[in-house]
Amino acid sequence: MEKQRTLLLIKPDSVHRGLIGRIINRFEEKGFNISAMKLIWMKREQAEDLYSPHVGKSFYEPTVEYMTSSPIVAVVVGGFDAINQVRKMNGATRPNEADPGSIRGDFGQRVDNNCVHGSDSLESALREIPIFFKDEEILDYERCIYRWL
Ligand code: RTP
Ligand code: MG
Repeated sequence: MEKQRTLLLIKPDSVHRGLIGRIINRFEEKGFNISAMKLIWMKREQAEDLYSPHVGKSFYEPTVEYMTSSPIVAVVVGGFDAINQVRKMNGATRPNEADPGSIRGDFGQRVDNNCVHGSDSLESALREIPIFFKDEEILDYERCIYRWL
């Protein structure tokens, strides 16, 4: 298992509902590092870039509109097998199909406001993280003198 970095977005519905702390808490409890984090109002260009693999699909434009409609939290989550683990902890895209215990299973309402985003592959993570973070904004826990994890 290799250490990876993945992009987690806490979507507008979660920010509005006061779920930022509870969502971050799940990843901290599981032992992942928060390597970067910011509260932002996403620009249209960022949303179009993020969802560019979905251009032409019926949900592309509504999703871009939704993600730019109010603040979100962008997070780089780091740790072993982070890409797949974060996807699993997020749960299935459609909250009614997401397992209880997953974020979407526990908090999700509808597919178009499904609480969180997680990169779906290493290639996606490498493409998505720079949409939100410069290299120097992503902290390297390997440099810490004291380690608890
Ligand atoms: P995400 O990218 O947010 O982690 O979600 P995902 O991989 O599970 O789903 P994806 O297929 O990448 O779709 C991106 C987002 O578009 C919205 N969507 N709506 N109405 C629909 O049928 C539909 N399908 C997808 C969702 O908000 C989804 O998270
Ligand atoms: Mg996706």
